[in-house]
Amino acid sequence: MTTKVLKAAVIGLGGFAHAHHDALRVLEANGEVQVVATCDPQVEKFAATPLLADLEARSVPIHTDYLEMLDVHANELDFVTIPTPIPLHATMHRACVERGMAVYLEKPPTLDWRELDSMIETEKEAHFQTQVGFNFIIETTRQSLKARILAGEFGDLKRAIFVGCHPRSESYFRRAHWAGRLRNNGHLILDSCVGNALAHQIHNLLFWCGESEVLSWGEIRSVEAELYRAHAIENFDTVFARGQCGQTNIWVGATHTGSGPAWQHEIVDCEHARIIYGGPTYQIHWHDGRQEENPTDTNTVSNILVRNLRYFAHYLRGEEVRPLTTLADSRPFVMLNDLILVAAGHITTLPNTLVDNQMGSREEVLRSVVEIQTSLQLFLEQGLFPSEMGTAWAIAGGRAQASQITQLDAVIESISTRSEAGTVN
Ligand SMILES: NC(=O)c1ccc[n+]([C@@H]2O[C@H](COP(=O)([O-])OP(=O)(O)OC[C@H]3O[C@@H](n4cnc5c(N)ncnc54)[C@H](O)[C@@H]3O)[C@@H](O)[C@H]2O)c1
Repeated sequence: MTTKVLKAAVIGLGGFAHAHHDALRVLEANGEVQVVATCDPQVEKFAATPLLADLEARSVPIHTDYLEMLDVHANELDFVTIPTPIPLHATMHRACVERGMAVYLEKPPTLDWRELDSMIETEKEAHFQTQVGFNFIIETTRQSLKARILAGEFGDLKRAIFVGCHPRSESYFRRAHWAGRLRNNGHLILDSCVGNALAHQIHNLLFWCGESEVLSWGEIRSVEAELYRAHAIENFDTVFARGQCGQTNIWVGATHTGSGPAWQHEIVDCEHARIIYGGPTYQIHWHDGRQEENPTDTNTVSNILVRNLRYFAHYLRGEEVRPLTTLADSRPFVMLNDLILVAAGHITTLPNTLVDNQMGSREEVLRSVVEIQTSLQLFLEQGLFPSEMGTAWAIAGGRAQASQITQLDAVIESISTRSEAGTVN
């Protein structure tokens, strides 16, 4: 039996779009997919790159306008991948769906809950659902542990925790006009550590909380949060949050401050065991003293992208019944991001006296705050916010129920106004 070779187009050439080209090249070499078109408004930036030479050698037409690309190739495209800046996702997704094309959309689909709803509405009648590029749901070890949790093997699920420090330099926030922004030209952006760079980890956390089946995500009911920034950005770079997700408590602590290697902990606390997931292994520490340790099936990011795109191709061929993460599955992630801002109500700017500017290996400036690292460690152990630990610079945030998500615009307006007024809010 021969496999139908699916015809694909990639919007974009650089940034993560380059990773899409590399991954699809692997599927193309295997006769699963053929890239028939690509585009980028700044093609000239890629002149003399190996990617451009390779595309030319494979006779892949390169357009400068994505709409022109969609129209020219409308009759042959089976799917389009959208690995472009987040503010472009909704418009590009709509353009593809309106032309009857299936979409593989990079995470996060959007960070505005209303825009997500309208994207879900856009594809209500579509033949195929969009797969959102949250990379790690495909892990078989993750899915089989979730099945064991749902089967009740570890007793009731009590709490899911993600605490991580992923330092980013000042240049990270200068790389794009939307980086670290709350809004741009009246459009909500909400780019933050948990909304963008650590989006996978947050979506993974909510995956543990899904109660109905393996591919399910918990419903966010309420959130308490405290937000800080050490970088000169509009949004926060450090978050401490607790919430109720379905029947489970969640704790989220994350920062883009710091200068050392990144670290993170993903923990699932059940009635009879603590599961520590991540890196090369996952461990199960039973409360009766038994221990299990097994390798996770995480490969390199490029391998995991190949696996995700291959899975999507299988779905389009009818060999899988659904995408790994749909737009609707992304709702808890988007809700949590929005409710964190609504709950906190303000972002505390950390004074420069707390910040140690360090030079990274590529001459970039890293803003390191020792007290943030200490606070994250204490949060991981005790679930206490800096303000609850009596930390001198800490300012308490607040709490929001899911229904208060409608206050998002008013909260963003208030945070922006106070920032513009130079208030340490
Ligand atoms: N899954 C992952 O592991 C992973 C990793 C990194 C980034 N991402 C996601 O990938 C997406 C892109 O992020 P990035 O940092 O690569 O962004 P980016 O700013 O580097 O843009 C990616 C590409 O989109 C192109 N582009 C911009 N406007 C365009 C337009 N109008 N038409 C066609 N192409 C256009 C850019 O020229 C660039 O080539 C984001 O959603 C990001 O969160 C995912």
